[in-house]
Amino acid sequence: MNHSTNTGHELEVIFTPDAIADRLGELAREIAGSGLDSLLVVAVLKGSFVFAADLIRALHAVGLAPEVDFMTLSSYRKAQISSGQVTILRDMDLDVKGRNVLIVDDVLDSGRTLAFAKDLLSARGANVIKTCVLLDKQAKRAVNLEPDFWAFQCPDTFVVGYGMDVAHRYRELPFVGRVRE
Ligand code: IMP
Ligand code: MG
Repeated sequence: MNHSTNTGHELEVIFTPDAIADRLGELAREIAGSGLDSLLVVAVLKGSFVFAADLIRALHAVGLAPEVDFMTLSSYRKAQISSGQVTILRDMDLDVKGRNVLIVDDVLDSGRTLAFAKDLLSARGANVIKTCVLLDKQAKRAVNLEPDFWAFQCPDTFVVGYGMDVAHRYRELPFVGRVRE
C-alpha cells in the first residue's frame, strides 16, 4: 500500500493504523503481565509521543494506571545515521528514585539512546527499569541492549509517521511508512 504526500514523497505503508492498534493491545497485556506495580512511564521525545499516548491508553484498558513523564533526548543524527553522542535537551520532572520505570521510545536502532536513558535513570536510583519500543531495528545495534517489550520488528530502513519524522515532517501520519528512494 502506498501513500503520496503533498510534499512529493512516496511512502510505502509498513504498519497500518489497525495493525498498530491490535499490537498495542497485546503489548499492554504483556506489560501488565510483567507485574510492575506503581509504574512510571518515561516517554523519550520527540519521536515516541504518539506511541506513548496510545500505549498509556492501552495500559489503562488492561487495568494499569501509570504515571507519565517526558524527557527529550538528542542523538545527533545526521543523514539518518546515529553519531553516538546522546544529550539531554529537556529533562523529566519526576523523581525516579525507587520507582519502577518503563522507558518508551519509538525506534531502537544503534541502542545508544535507550542505553543512555537507562544509565541515567539507574544512576538516579530507579528501582526496576524496563524498556519498550514501537520498532526494534536489530541490524545496526552498537551496544548490548535488547528491549524488554517491542511492538514490531522493523527492517533496516528509515521510517516516518506515527510520531516519527524526517526533517520535522510526517509525524502526523496515522501509519508507519518508509520513504521510497
Ligand atoms: P539509536 O540511539 O541509534 O538507537 O536511535 C534511536 C533514535 O533514533 C530513536 O529515538 C529515533 O528517534 C531515531 N530513529 C532511529 N531510526 C529512525 C527512523 O527510521 N525514523 C525516525 N527516527 C529514527
Ligand atoms: Mg527518538
